Amino acid sequence: MPAIYASAPGKIIIFGEHAVVYGRPAIAIPVTQVNAKAVITPNPLSPPGKIRVVAPDIALMADLDQLPAGHPLATSIRCVLASLKISRPPSLTLRVTSTIPLAAGLGSGAAVSVAIIRALSAFLGHPFPDDQVSELSFQVEKIHHGTPSGIDNSVITYGKPVFFARGKPIEFLEVTHPFMLVIGDTGVRSPTVEVVADVRQRWLTESNLMERLFDAAGAVALEGRQAVEGGDYPLLGQLMNRNHAILQEMNVSSLDLDRLVEASLVAGAVGAKLSGGGRGGNMIALVTPESSAKVIDAIQANGAVRTIVTTVGPRN
Ligand code: PMV
Repeated sequence: MPAIYASAPGKIIIFGEHAVVYGRPAIAIPVTQVNAKAVITPNPLSPPGKIRVVAPDIALMADLDQLPAGHPLATSIRCVLASLKISRPPSLTLRVTSTIPLAAGLGSGAAVSVAIIRALSAFLGHPFPDDQVSELSFQVEKIHHGTPSGIDNSVITYGKPVFFARGKPIEFLEVTHPFMLVIGDTGVRSPTVEVVADVRQRWLTESNLMERLFDAAGAVALEGRQAVEGGDYPLLGQLMNRNHAILQEMNVSSLDLDRLVEASLVAGAVGAKLSGGGRGGNMIALVTPESSAKVIDAIQANGAVRTIVTTVGPRN
């Protein structure tokens, strides 16, 4: 049995995070500049059933049966074995690495599970189709997000810009005019599960206000789809700013995110917002080829620990 390799990209949410958990539409795109990789090598000399898991980024080196039930890497593996009804797979080592920062709104959890599910199902002779990969990775997302919408596993599995609403078939966006985004990392790690739980708590106590904010975010995503597909950048930028204001009202932004958003706009970004769970992690700014360098300088001067430039285009 040869070694098997699979990878999955990161992602950002252009419109609709949090509201998407409550059934409103959202738009996400893959970010191929960062990715997670899973490599599986057979251990023909070890007894069947023994699975070694190595993940240097989180200093993990353990046998599968030593990992607790809710461990995301173990869950990814166990989901595949259960789907294939395999209890004693050939002995193997799974090595997971990722360049996607953890807890930063770039979909690291979903990318890792998608890469593992793809590699392991292929290694066992039954490469899963995308819809099955996405569905199993959604099960793992429950560990990361508590009540995930399913947007992360969808955009990362399919690797295309998606218009996503919970319980509806995924739609892929037709981007005819490429546009450029600068992604700026506050360096503050903020586990999505905590922010999603806080939003839920507030929704339970202030449901009218939160429902209004979710509706507003959903309307922005709908209009945003037209702006993305029609190449209307001024509108796209305005909608990003509007979405950021809504997320501030939801209380999921932070001083660091607001500072980077503000700095990017002052430096000439067409629009900017936080992206993902919030309270830390990454923001995104819509830029032109002319303004990108100034925007990058501005957000770095305001504390961004890393920046990524990504172009969303017909082939993305
Ligand atoms: O993984 P993150 O931090 O990008 O968050 C995903 C977006 C949320 O809407 C906050 C959660 C979800 O499951 O949709």
